[in-house]
Amino acid sequence: MAVAHMGLVGVGTMGSALALNMAENGHDVALYNLDSSTIDALIDRAGDLAPRLSKADSIEALVASMPTPRAILMMVPAGDPVDQTIDALLPHLAPGDTIIDGGNSDFRDTQARVKRVEDAGFRFLGVGVSGGEEGARKGPSMMVGGSPEAWEPIQPILEAIAAKYEGSPCVAHLGTDGAGHFVKTVHNGIEYADMQLIAEVYGLLRDGEGLQAEQIAPLFHTWNEGRLQSYLVEITGHVLDAKDPKTGQALVDVIVDQAGQKGTGRWTVIEAIRMGQSASIIEAAVGARVLSSERETRRIAAPILTPAGVEEYGLRFDERELEAALFTARILAYAQGFRILKAADEEFGWGLDYARIAEIWRAGCIIRSSLLDDIATAFRGDLPGGRLVLSDHFAPLLTQNVGALRRIVSAAVLRGLPVPALSSALSWFDEIRQERGTADVIQGMRDYFGAHSFERLDEEGSHHGPWAKD
Ligand code: 6PG
Repeated sequence: MAVAHMGLVGVGTMGSALALNMAENGHDVALYNLDSSTIDALIDRAGDLAPRLSKADSIEALVASMPTPRAILMMVPAGDPVDQTIDALLPHLAPGDTIIDGGNSDFRDTQARVKRVEDAGFRFLGVGVSGGEEGARKGPSMMVGGSPEAWEPIQPILEAIAAKYEGSPCVAHLGTDGAGHFVKTVHNGIEYADMQLIAEVYGLLRDGEGLQAEQIAPLFHTWNEGRLQSYLVEITGHVLDAKDPKTGQALVDVIVDQAGQKGTGRWTVIEAIRMGQSASIIEAAVGARVLSSERETRRIAAPILTPAGVEEYGLRFDERELEAALFTARILAYAQGFRILKAADEEFGWGLDYARIAEIWRAGCIIRSSLLDDIATAFRGDLPGGRLVLSDHFAPLLTQNVGALRRIVSAAVLRGLPVPALSSALSWFDEIRQERGTADVIQGMRDYFGAHSFERLDEEGSHHGPWAKD
């Protein structure tokens, strides 16, 4: 099978970076963008790589300029632009050509698009690309979904441009149709959770300990040298270090405390709940972004709802305990993410390889962290019930460190400092280790008001209570 020739539709930030990456790895790339000036700008700054880049004035011209078999990568915003691009491409393709969607598409859209494009006689891959602009340029992590036939001619190109972890490319074909985009969605759900956990720890240092950004930054730098080593902890240190050129203040202190979101975190929660999975830490992170946007409500509420039952107690946030709390909660967030992947795999039959997913997240992507190598090792070994939290590696780590999470969450709660993700992580830990839960009384109530029945511990079958109702 010949290696495909590359075309790119959508020469924005990510598209440009990927084009340069492909060119650097020896591939000629034909480019099309609605606003052709971005292509001119890219070619102008491409230096030695410019001869490998060519500009097309229309989709038709793009396809016509390429030898077959073609692979046309779309880096356009998720949603309608993807379908419009597919519509524009289809009439010009030849058998053996592949359309690749490298955006953050909803995996259900990808499932439908695979069918649509295959029914038209061509191939389609849905590829989750993580790593931002720098990742796209120097090596992203890529999660691929689609048919093995579509993957085969594209594999050498994506392996060449992918991030490498100890020489191993951070790209894998994970399953058919929407598998790649689903895994990318869950990656982003974990990304939301990890960012929120970090933000809460920052908040405890700022509002609980009264530290300035410049005093907090070194902690993140130090933590990044240890078991919290990760891209997000690393860049938090840099974000907190930065000074605002206009005022000379810490930059973070002039940034509006209102977080945006494009939807992938929310999709993770929606899919998890639909599949009957708890994604409480990710949900807390999505909810915190939503509440962050209610800035006006918070402004009005602050003087009215104070002190809201808060007592000082002199409770402090010890740096070592914060580190252990963040470490514990991060493990639990990853564990929730992998449980969601498992549930989806059972539903869609993709045959996901969890160890491989952890491996391709070890470099290039936003959630890359030293934990992922241990997670990959745990999945390659014997995991009780396939549950990460029960692995020989993670179970002792959790039990040794959860005390710190408990003390940090307790102190934050008593002092009225919001820690939705840290506390969700702790509650999830306490729920999954509670041998006898409290759903017995829920079942009792359900049977009481709706005759929904319950199971007994000592007898098979479904039962009703002897409720005495007037
Ligand atoms: C990545 C990122 C990237 C992007 C997301 C998140 O893996 O490279 O996840 O895909 O940052 O779009 O965006 P929001 O925070 O806006 O949802």
